[in-house]
Amino acid sequence: MADFDFAEAALAANPLPVRDPQLIPAGRYFDEEFFRLERERLWPHVWQMACRLEQIPEVGDWIEYSNLGQSVVVVRAKDGIKAFHNHCRHRGVPIAGGKGNEHGNCRKQGFICPFHGWRWNLEGECTFVYGRQLFDADLLEKDELALRACRVETWGGCAFINHDDAAPSLRETLGPVLGALEAHGMDDLRSEWWFATVLPANWKIAMEAFMEGYHVMKTHPQLQRALPSLFNSRYGNDTGGVGVPINPNQTVRENIAAQIQNLQLLSEGMGGMCHAKEVAIARQLADVELPDDLETAVQAWYGMVQAQITEQLRAKGENVPDLNAVCVSDPVEAVEFLFPHYFLLPTFTSMASYRIRPLGPESCLFEIWSLTHFPKGEEPPVPMEPTILPYDSQDFPMIPRQDYSNIPIQQKGLHSKGFEFMRLAKNIEGLISNYHRVIDAYIAGAPPEQLAQATQKLGYNFDGRILDLGL
Ligand code: FES
Ligand SMILES: [Fe+2]
Repeated sequence: MADFDFAEAALAANPLPVRDPQLIPAGRYFDEEFFRLERERLWPHVWQMACRLEQIPEVGDWIEYSNLGQSVVVVRAKDGIKAFHNHCRHRGVPIAGGKGNEHGNCRKQGFICPFHGWRWNLEGECTFVYGRQLFDADLLEKDELALRACRVETWGGCAFINHDDAAPSLRETLGPVLGALEAHGMDDLRSEWWFATVLPANWKIAMEAFMEGYHVMKTHPQLQRALPSLFNSRYGNDTGGVGVPINPNQTVRENIAAQIQNLQLLSEGMGGMCHAKEVAIARQLADVELPDDLETAVQAWYGMVQAQITEQLRAKGENVPDLNAVCVSDPVEAVEFLFPHYFLLPTFTSMASYRIRPLGPESCLFEIWSLTHFPKGEEPPVPMEPTILPYDSQDFPMIPRQDYSNIPIQQKGLHSKGFEFMRLAKNIEGLISNYHRVIDAYIAGAPPEQLAQATQKLGYNFDGRILDLGL
């Protein structure tokens, strides 16, 4: 690792490297050559969230996942989840999906190529070649005809694929944040709804809109208004740092009302990010007896809310974590990013989850799932396809709608003559810089272990600092 001269390799391969961690060159969001380098050097080596496992509950169920022209079939085989590169070993036609039927079950028939009808079972073994005698025998050797396996690992109710056989495992790559999210009940979450939109923006612009809370004041003014102390102490000119958000000019009761109002706005604005069933429980405690000291009171109130959410949802049969315990044992940030394209917003027992895929240098597919717990046997039907809406649709919840309103115009602004760099606040917009520098390390071809070590540092870094990534 010591032999790898990252700086030199970065400059040699990369037309637009990040030279100063606080300055991000604008061209990284639209330059064709930079996009080509990401396509060739980043995406084939990273763990990509391919599907939710509840989409393939039965043996034989499969889903096609495709990104930048690489299509993979994820299938539930008898001994677990497998993934195959989606091509027929005869003349390359995709054996699954690609014709609009993007999922199904292949237990009985296996995968059947639509061109000449060759077949495979769910272990990827070829089970039928029409007119075998027409081919030279050595072309049809068993191993030659088997579907090409793609690496796949499962975590947090999802299947992740990686095209690189030499990449460290998912857990080695993403590190302890996976365990912390598991402690928050990640494995038992189910999707409640799933939306998608195409954004006319580079995939990184879309990701970065969620990497700091500094934009809340202007982009989500309703959240700022409900709890100004929370945001002003973090980003504004009020000092005092980040503690329990309280308004010293209001009574304990007024402060609690503001907290409830904030939870209500989050819930209305973003569904799974704060679930209505949790807001209802918080409301039950609006008039609870609390200490006189404001900070102690608000802190105590949150403790009670979390205890009640845990107790009441467990009583309904939901397998939720003990919220007060996991806050201490496995704290997580308001947003947790799983490099490169998946992130989660955990609040109480529910989470919103987002996945972004590039469609071109200036276009991306943006998906949102609302994830929550259900009593066993009472899970709603699994959404198999996202509801696709235009990005400015009024049917999106308010918070993503507000975020989407900036993303396309920011993409336009990046092209403006004289705009060379984004300039980042080093202590709260650091994750943006850290992400870019990990991308540069992939482009430079850094050793896999070094990439994994740097990637781990992206966990717990929402609203965080520019870090030394060891690159
Ligand atoms: S291309 Fe698939 S069977 Fe011929
Ligand atoms: Fe936002």
